[in-house]
Amino acid sequence: MTAVLGLFDSGVGGLTVLRRVLERHPDVTCVYLGDTARVPYGNRTPDEIRVIAAEVVAWLRSTGVTTVVMACNTTNALARDVAEGRAGVPVIGLIGAAASLVDESRVGVLATPATVQSSAYRVSIEALRPGTLVIEQACPAFVPLIETGDLLSDDLRQIAMRYLEPLLEASVESIVLGCTHYPLLEPLFRQLLPASVRLIDPALAVARQLDAVLGPPSSLPGQGVSLDHCRLCVTADPTGFAARATPWLGQRPEVELIHLHP
Ligand code: DGL
Repeated sequence: MTAVLGLFDSGVGGLTVLRRVLERHPDVTCVYLGDTARVPYGNRTPDEIRVIAAEVVAWLRSTGVTTVVMACNTTNALARDVAEGRAGVPVIGLIGAAASLVDESRVGVLATPATVQSSAYRVSIEALRPGTLVIEQACPAFVPLIETGDLLSDDLRQIAMRYLEPLLEASVESIVLGCTHYPLLEPLFRQLLPASVRLIDPALAVARQLDAVLGPPSSLPGQGVSLDHCRLCVTADPTGFAARATPWLGQRPEVELIHLHP
């Protein structure tokens, strides 16, 4: 049976995961759901996030996907069990995969408020690397700004400096981008951080983990990606989503509007 991946996120963030997956497995068939009607997830309560996870995974399953990729840390932190219960197929998440990429003894994590409150990253990194100092920083303003297409404004820069300050004061050696929207801010982070601080994108570990499902990688990272086998869907504003996705995907995608509550 041909594998079909189902990826989901609240908006454009999960495209950072989709791109990493397509760079490594260019021919894979994918369905992507951006739940743009309900973005941001990370400022919501755990109960709301669990209801949302159940609905988006049920919809992905209805399209026939054979593996679900939680391209959203917030649902991964708070509703992985819900996703597994609904999926009935293997579920791959970011947080456990990310811990395997950490190699330093002082680590920062930038994530949504809900993910930070869950402590999922700290628990996962400490379990794999006992003794690691993990400092988590909630970044409530990032996703709403990124979803308006703002990746480099002065306001965003001021906010980013405020969020990075506690991590720099703690002399972290690496920072995990613990929300899939944040790799879109990598150019800004690189301007604000010393060159010695390594940025860790958990999506790289997810793409590697998918080798077990999709076989060995068939292209090198950094190449352009093809969306020929991808169906991109959102729950609101397909035109705006296509525009915001364009710089990251290197092409303007076709985007379909779907309804989770018919
Ligand atoms: N990109 C998602 C994450 O990784 C959700 C962000 C949000 O909607 O707040 O957490």
